[in-house]
Amino acid sequence: MTRATVEVRTGYPYEVHIGSDLLPEAAARIAKRTHVVLTDAHVAPLWAKAFGAAPRIVVAPGEASKSLRVLESVLDELVASRMKRDGLVVCLGGGVVGDLGGLAASLYMRGIDFVQCPTTLLAQVDSSVGGKTAINLAGGKNLAGTFHQPIAVYADVATLATLADEEFTSGLGEVVKSALVGDPSLLDELTENAGAIRARRVEALIPVVERCVRVKAAVVAADEREAGTRKTLNLGHTFAHAIEHAAGYGTVPHGLAVSVGLSLAVRASARLGLLSDPELPERLARVQTRLGLPSELEHLPALTPAALHAGLTHDKKGQDAGRPRLVLPRAAGDLVLDIPADDALLAELLG
Ligand code: GLY
Repeated sequence: MTRATVEVRTGYPYEVHIGSDLLPEAAARIAKRTHVVLTDAHVAPLWAKAFGAAPRIVVAPGEASKSLRVLESVLDELVASRMKRDGLVVCLGGGVVGDLGGLAASLYMRGIDFVQCPTTLLAQVDSSVGGKTAINLAGGKNLAGTFHQPIAVYADVATLATLADEEFTSGLGEVVKSALVGDPSLLDELTENAGAIRARRVEALIPVVERCVRVKAAVVAADEREAGTRKTLNLGHTFAHAIEHAAGYGTVPHGLAVSVGLSLAVRASARLGLLSDPELPERLARVQTRLGLPSELEHLPALTPAALHAGLTHDKKGQDAGRPRLVLPRAAGDLVLDIPADDALLAELLG
């Protein structure tokens, strides 16, 4: 079976391994180090057995676990497990487990190593790579966190077989984003191979995850701490966060909101005269349809324009004096940053 390895050239470089049935290999590679497995109650019975008798910290599935309270309990459990500075945390799960475990690892004894074993498509193509860790605060998502790179990532596509359809499709929203950010030919290949991808055939998934990780690795290596270029990874996310906030977090899966956010970003680009590929709206709509992704706000639960506008200004990270600043595509692989969105444009896009 094919497999791939991508190097992430950050300050401390590391490898992302992509393949099928990789968890036993991950377990064997870390066996000599004292480690604990951080996972959630949904993933533990499915995949944690690969790590044998290693101590486990099991949190509740879902976004609510990205909290100060759960972070404190994870840190207490690391103490109870007698983890020392040479210990290792294995994050086995989706983005919540990866973000929470990465943050706990970055804080415990001023920072210990961690390994990411992402088990959702979204985590494999995006959140497990690049070292962003976070929990949510009352004032917003991901407002408390650190940059702390894992020492390795094992993206085992076999784990994607057990994802609910909606969660798998949500990951495809981030796949399309990755293609738009840095791999234009992937956009059309996704359209051509949509059947095999949606059937979750491992030989179709491995190259897709690899290509997305290559995009992410290149961006993160160029701008580890998001001074500039890394903002391109937020393509579609200002609108997505507005949608998620308006709907109530957890109501619309993140990647589905990102998919609609990508359509809105392309529309904004066209409206501002920035688009250099006039076929991009059509190419994007085609891939979204083939992958079963939403492309229009109407494809999501009804959201009022007022709630969407409130959601936009809630996204404190992507704005300047209350005015959202957008990442927009001129073409696939050619993005512009920090474009201020005026009220007329937002009214046209969001109603
Ligand atoms: N998910 C966006 C980033 O890692 O920068």
